[in-house]
Amino acid sequence: MPRLKFCMILLWIVAVLFFLNSFASDPYVQISASFDDQRPKSKLHDILESSGPISPAFKPPYGDQTLGVFQRIWIITLETRQDRQDHMRALAEALNLSFTYHFARDPYHNATDRQTLEDVANFVLWERHQVEYKDPPITDTLTRLFPFEWSEDAQPGSIARLRPDDIQGADLWLLPDSDPRKPTIPSSFPRYILSSDENGHLDQTKGEKPPFVVWQDNALVEGIDTRLDPPITACWLSHYEVLRKIAESEDEGPQLIFEDDVDFEWDLQQRLYQILPKVPGWEVLFLGHCFSDGAMNPIVNGMPYLHQPSHIMCTHAYAITPSAARKLVRYLRSPLFAFSRPIDHVFNFIGDLEKYSIEPPVSIQVPKTLLGSDIGTADNAERMQYLVDGVFQRILRAKEMGGL
Ligand SMILES: *[C@@H]1O[C@H](CO)[C@@H](O)[C@H](O)[C@H]1NC(C)=O
Ligand SMILES: *[C@@H]1O[C@H](CO)[C@@H](O)[C@H](O)[C@H]1NC(C)=O
Repeated sequence: MPRLKFCMILLWIVAVLFFLNSFASDPYVQISASFDDQRPKSKLHDILESSGPISPAFKPPYGDQTLGVFQRIWIITLETRQDRQDHMRALAEALNLSFTYHFARDPYHNATDRQTLEDVANFVLWERHQVEYKDPPITDTLTRLFPFEWSEDAQPGSIARLRPDDIQGADLWLLPDSDPRKPTIPSSFPRYILSSDENGHLDQTKGEKPPFVVWQDNALVEGIDTRLDPPITACWLSHYEVLRKIAESEDEGPQLIFEDDVDFEWDLQQRLYQILPKVPGWEVLFLGHCFSDGAMNPIVNGMPYLHQPSHIMCTHAYAITPSAARKLVRYLRSPLFAFSRPIDHVFNFIGDLEKYSIEPPVSIQVPKTLLGSDIGTADNAERMQYLVDGVFQRILRAKEMGGL
């Protein structure tokens, strides 16, 4: 009797090991293994199953910790926002992902960053002032504010790796005052002044008004007086710095950039295995977005969730190839374009990028009320979007049910 019991246990262990092992080698099976469909299968089912969207020939080039298809996953976060980093760490732990953190510029708590942002706004004003009034203004629904030109290095095909000492255009504005390469603005030019009180409340009422947010290359939408505020400039700079790191790096593989308040679909890796092989020429892929017109454009390669948007906003979740990052950095640092608008607008004005969007988005911004802070500043875009089965959604549900 005890012998039989021993054999039974041994058999059990072998079966369990076999079962586990059958999942271990294939990451795709691993993520779909939680759904074990036991229904009898029809002939039609078998035919359709083998014509499914994941090509059997597809071999993910990177490991599961970066979702198989990316070389690196970046998180842009303010150093002081431990709560946001905890949020992202929970997502990482849930799916055993590995993130690279980039600390964003912080106008509220960091005087150096505040000074940098003040300088940037003054350089934007100065650049525009220098080219202004060379042409008579054109009055239409869009008012042309200044004649526009890209800088010389911002050209289609400018995809050479960036050397760390390749500092041009708006890069020069970011240098410390002690650096002789930093341009100077004549002291007679009226300055924009950014200050803050002890509580981190920003004040930009003391000097010149901050620069206009422009549309297209250089235009103002008639009747709309929107100015660059420090968070907009800080956000541009933070994304720019990540793109620059990618552009300088030796990485050849695509990179995913998340902001620190996102959620994404639990089966994101499986979805990416379906999507990426269908878009071999992609340069920017929006996993998350808002105000996208992508769904109105034709589907790409028979994939109903894949589109080429002609208008898209929000930068909480996008992937980019290193060569596109090198090109983008050169556009973004063009003096008449740099810091001219919120960073998420730029993709609509740089035609020289193969952009795709996943519709509906597979990553959204978690409403700030759910992240437990910044209550009251939530914008509407995030409330218009939902995931089917988000990682954070699962975490919240598990907490509610007392499982965490
Ligand atoms: C996470 O993934 C890495 C690399 O694939 C692996 O070495 C590690 O054991 C995994 N950690 C957990 C907790 O599964
Ligand atoms: C302020 O920001 C600068 C540049 O972003 C950084 O080097 C520095 O460590 C920050 N200072 C503090 C006190 O966090």
